[in-house]
Amino acid sequence: MAYFEWADDLVIDHGPIDADHRHLVDLVNELHTATSEGRGREVVNKVLNELIGYTSAHLQREEARMAAVHFPNLAGHKIGHQHFVDSLNDLRQKYEAGSITVAAQLSTVLRDWLSLHIRRSDKELLDFIRKNQAKSGSGP
Ligand SMILES: [Fe+2]
Ligand SMILES: [Fe+2]
Repeated sequence: MAYFEWADDLVIDHGPIDADHRHLVDLVNELHTATSEGRGREVVNKVLNELIGYTSAHLQREEARMAAVHFPNLAGHKIGHQHFVDSLNDLRQKYEAGSITVAAQLSTVLRDWLSLHIRRSDKELLDFIRKNQAKSGSGP
């Protein structure tokens, strides 16, 4: 069983947002493997940088999609994204400063934030899209 399992209740759009989320899940698993197997700093750093880069690209793509469909809670959603980026950067700094305990925390923080954020906050986009489609009569 993977450290971070993909599950049906993580599905948002059966499209690009899910593809991003699935890739993030894969990267969190990769990071977890690297840290739990005690891989060298070089390997962990590489995965961590990829994860942070991909996360910020995903958040921007998601916000652009939300803006395009006039999602009403975009401002609030952006604040949640920013908090997460801040805490991730903070952890990376601590990790780079040599904190060994941070390495193990990283995959936990990422997994917990992502699964909760997708299930609670990103899901609001799914509900909004569904409501709009019902209104325009184009089905679920
Ligand atoms: Fe997302
Ligand atoms: Fe989001």
